[in-house]
Amino acid sequence: MYFTVSMAMKPAVRTVWNALSGSAGSLCDTHLRELFAADPRRFSRFSVCWNDWLLDYSKQRVTPETMGLLHELWHAADVAGWIARMRAGEAINHTEGRAALHVALRHPAGKGPILHAGHDVMPAVHHELERMQRFAAEIHGRHWRGATGEPISDVVNIGIGGSDLGPRMATQALAAYRHPDIRVHYVANLDGADLATVLATLQPRTTLFVVASKTFTTQETMQNAASARHWLVQSLGEAAVARHFVAVSTNLAEVARFGIDPENAFAFWDWVGGRYSLWSAIGLPLVLAVGFDNFRKLLAGAHAMDQHFFAAPPAENLPGLLALLEIWNSNFLGADNRALLPYSQSLGLLPRYLQQLEMESNGKQVDRQGLPLECATAPILWGEAGTNGQHAFYQLIHQGRRLIPCEFIACKQPDFDLPGHHQKLLANCFAQSEALMRGKPLAEITAELAAGGMSPEQVALLAPYRSFPGNQPSTTLLLPRLDPHTLGALLALYEHKVFVQSVIWDINPFDQWGVEYGKQLANRLLPIIEGRTATGGLDSSTAGLIEACKP
Ligand code: F6P
Repeated sequence: MYFTVSMAMKPAVRTVWNALSGSAGSLCDTHLRELFAADPRRFSRFSVCWNDWLLDYSKQRVTPETMGLLHELWHAADVAGWIARMRAGEAINHTEGRAALHVALRHPAGKGPILHAGHDVMPAVHHELERMQRFAAEIHGRHWRGATGEPISDVVNIGIGGSDLGPRMATQALAAYRHPDIRVHYVANLDGADLATVLATLQPRTTLFVVASKTFTTQETMQNAASARHWLVQSLGEAAVARHFVAVSTNLAEVARFGIDPENAFAFWDWVGGRYSLWSAIGLPLVLAVGFDNFRKLLAGAHAMDQHFFAAPPAENLPGLLALLEIWNSNFLGADNRALLPYSQSLGLLPRYLQQLEMESNGKQVDRQGLPLECATAPILWGEAGTNGQHAFYQLIHQGRRLIPCEFIACKQPDFDLPGHHQKLLANCFAQSEALMRGKPLAEITAELAAGGMSPEQVALLAPYRSFPGNQPSTTLLLPRLDPHTLGALLALYEHKVFVQSVIWDINPFDQWGVEYGKQLANRLLPIIEGRTATGGLDSSTAGLIEACKP
């Protein structure tokens, strides 16, 4: 099934799009095994190195012709022009009238200005970074004391979405770099079980809360913050709030209204999207978990990837290649999903983080002109750390009938070097992509079972169950090791991948109106559930569910 994109597609894009449809048609009967057999140089032809990284996409269902057309698609959609607009601080988030300048957050000091509305944002960015550094030094140096004079041992970040997933994922990813004296916890869910189970392990006198919210109005965060405040005040009194609560927000007026000392509020700006905000003060809990020097390395890694993305041609551009290959798989080969499979326990939360980054950014129905898209955009992203996934859902990838493009991530060196582990981990990762590519034809398994001494009747019975179709496309990203610099570059890689796709699909990746409607309806239902208003006007299902909850 081949798709066309928006009705308003630029003529140059449409020409390449049609050529790609033709290319997909001529490839559909070719198995990956045949592509490898036909070209002994397939790996070197379809892999790229960047510093000590390797991106192997030779197991994707592509030919040199496909790749040539995908590179043309990049040019036809004017990715370079959109990169320039982003870097110039233009309001490319046009539905909210905002720029998207997250690259400024990792732009090093002294490397020139980044302008927003005619003003250089870099002094404010570095001022806030310095405040974070000083604050972390006070906590780590045990100079910051709680209301009873004791140092802080536990930090609880209260936030959700972009104000939670980034620092939470990165704290786990950099577990090998954790500060020995500080434990950092994350609470996001409105379900009281989240906060209550964390609080049950803590002492008010040694706990610091970071309330992180771009808007400082998000229902989940405000409820959790209010309950945490109540827990603290009950034990230490109202005056303790100043020593046990800090905030991160763009809405400093609301922060003050909550009762947090403006001195203890860390700012960021409306040109930073929530899911792009890890690099701002939203990274504060990560700074407390791994130290400011490691956070700086994270920023430096992201900046290195920014420079690569801005300069490299599409054939060598890592974010660009990932973007183009997924467009090929989803819009031309018909895949509606992608499995993200990090062979790294530390990257276990990466699929969740990328779910927000990719699906909240590119899950859109209209193009930049407001015209309906004719194709689906962001494929469903799912996944889990290898090898755990192997014992859960890989069966479906190997023998189910869906097209499931897989993205493997592995590290050459382990972050926790227990003897006997890492080589087995790598063997499993590479074996999976090999098996998904090759498959095992019926003839091969038939011969294998017969050679093992099985009777012809048994062979005939069992062989169909034990053959594998293969031809499941995959990419493997091989990283040197998981350290702060590499993690920063990896996350920036995905941010730019999302951006390239948004340019090609001609959509705005920086708004998220779809999330708003549910919030609005929840606010309408709350007084009804609380029994303050009648259920009138509701559909029978919603009214019935509410009725069923009454005591
Ligand atoms: O899920 C919608 C959303 O607006 C995300 O984009 C954002 O990251 C999250 O809510 C949290 O918002 P805030 O940081 O304003 O609390």
